[in-house]
Amino acid sequence: MFTLILPTYNEKENIKEFLPILESLFTKHKINYEIIVVDDDSPDLTWQFVQNYSIKNPRIRVIRRVTEKGLSSAVVTGMASSNGEILGIMDADMQHDESILPKMIELLRDFDLVIGSRRTVDGSYGEMNWYRRVLSYGATILAKIMLPIKTNDPMSGFFVLNKQVFEQSKDRINPRGYKILLELLAKNPKIKISELGYSFRKREHGETKLSGTVMQQYIIALIDLRFGSFISWTFIKYGITGFLGVFINLFGQFIFNTTSNSFQTLDSKNNFLFPSTAVAFGFELSVVFNFFLNNFWTFEDRSKKGFKNASAAFLKFNSISLIGFMIQYSSWFFLLQVFQFYFPHLFPELTTYIANLIGIIIATATNYKLNNSYTWAEK
Ligand code: GDD
Ligand code: MN
Repeated sequence: MFTLILPTYNEKENIKEFLPILESLFTKHKINYEIIVVDDDSPDLTWQFVQNYSIKNPRIRVIRRVTEKGLSSAVVTGMASSNGEILGIMDADMQHDESILPKMIELLRDFDLVIGSRRTVDGSYGEMNWYRRVLSYGATILAKIMLPIKTNDPMSGFFVLNKQVFEQSKDRINPRGYKILLELLAKNPKIKISELGYSFRKREHGETKLSGTVMQQYIIALIDLRFGSFISWTFIKYGITGFLGVFINLFGQFIFNTTSNSFQTLDSKNNFLFPSTAVAFGFELSVVFNFFLNNFWTFEDRSKKGFKNASAAFLKFNSISLIGFMIQYSSWFFLLQVFQFYFPHLFPELTTYIANLIGIIIATATNYKLNNSYTWAEK
């Protein structure tokens, strides 16, 4: 059986026209099929339309998702509940040319995955905007540079595959953004692929959901697919937060010094009376700042909400920051002795910075480990 998966978001007008076209195409070519529409609770009630439609034709059904969103994850949901041994994915807005589907399915006898491509001899972008073409072209080039892929249209949302390919990689697929095909290709580098050209059609109803966020997610997905096993995005965000925190820290110290200055806290020699209080103030200010940024950005997927949860997390974060500070301070102190012993000729001005930098790195790494598994522990 052939399972066609149609992800939808506000496509009622399109799907109304498209389902009958698909039914007669499959009947004409004697293809044993089922159609799964995966709808993310569209406000235009696409799901309801398909629900009613499926009474007439039980080969068509709808999965209405209410807690999950996103094109790629919709495709994965559809694949996971498919009955066919052959799967097909295409847009529901009729921009993809369904008439090449029978040929694509036929090609699956010799290939594992066949892509409907806008970038082959028979393919074209049709009347697509010039800036969308540039974007698509740029994204394709980028993908080709970063990943060992052989297709000319890795951005295509139109492809058929043997279900085997999905089964092999299902637990390694990260369903981000739009790029489910790219994900499948990257996770299955050995499969045999082929492409078939078609000409991209104009959208008649509704509008595209491709947005700035989708493009940003795409770039992140690419880097992740390429280097995913080496870096953690959470750690990078944590590092950026910590880096910003350094400036907040210095700013806090500065503010404290200048304001306490106006309260006449200088001694007779014009020295600040409370230099260490200023340092402590800067430190605490940066702890507060870093906590909020980490809670709502770095660990956004595990963010602590509500006063009780957030303040408990804040206390943990604060203690870990203090531990981190002690680690940094003692590393610096220790390394300084070591450097002065082994490299007595190096400038002390230089060694103190190097020692401190290493201290900061050690402290950040331990801090991160602790916060990651304790303050924002995964449930
Ligand atoms: N369930 C679900 N959830 N479906 C979605 C979502 C979502 O969050 N976002 C988009 N869709 C559905 C749309 O309803 C449509 O059927 C299909 O996914 C494609 O979305 P469009 O918004 O029409 O994309 P496009 O035409 O701008 O983008 C085209 O080019 C891209 C790359 O250049 C499509 O061909 C994409 O498939 C392709 O990746
Ligand atoms: Mn479209």
